[in-house]
Amino acid sequence: MSNRTLTMIKPDAMKRGYAGGILDMMINGGFRVVALKQLRLTAEKAGEFYAVHKERPFYGELVEFMSSGPIIAAILEKENAVADFRKLIGATNPVNAEEGTIRKKYATSVGENAVHGSDSDENAKIESDFFFSALERF
Ligand code: RTP
Ligand code: MG
Repeated sequence: MSNRTLTMIKPDAMKRGYAGGILDMMINGGFRVVALKQLRLTAEKAGEFYAVHKERPFYGELVEFMSSGPIIAAILEKENAVADFRKLIGATNPVNAEEGTIRKKYATSVGENAVHGSDSDENAKIESDFFFSALERF
């Protein structure tokens, strides 16, 4: 078990002005910000990030969406970070997300679902290294 996870506030939530509210829920949920930046992914970099989904029917749409505007990427720290953060963000499809979760409050559809959270300790490390150098972590 590791104590860090990687999150993104996705373009839909950024566009609607939800970044502050979402960061608030993360911090109130007990997560400490280790690293944070705002950036826009190119289609190529978005494709690289979601390469595990390359064969899925929604891959093209996902890459287009994730490169459609700025995002915020952050490394978050808490005991049992990966599992606890997935609990805080809720189900991929907001229709199935529990009350009190970030996706329940801020996501509109299964494709445009406001936030990302790593799904394993191994991927949390890979995804953190994708966005942040050692000099950007505190
Ligand atoms: P994420 O990786 O972004 O945290 O989301 P997740 O684990 O809950 O879901 P995952 O299965 O990894 O899917 C990654 C992202 O692809 C988009 N998606 N679209 N149209 C669709 O049926 C569909 N399914 C997935 C979502 O943006 C999802 O978060
Ligand atoms: Mg995932």
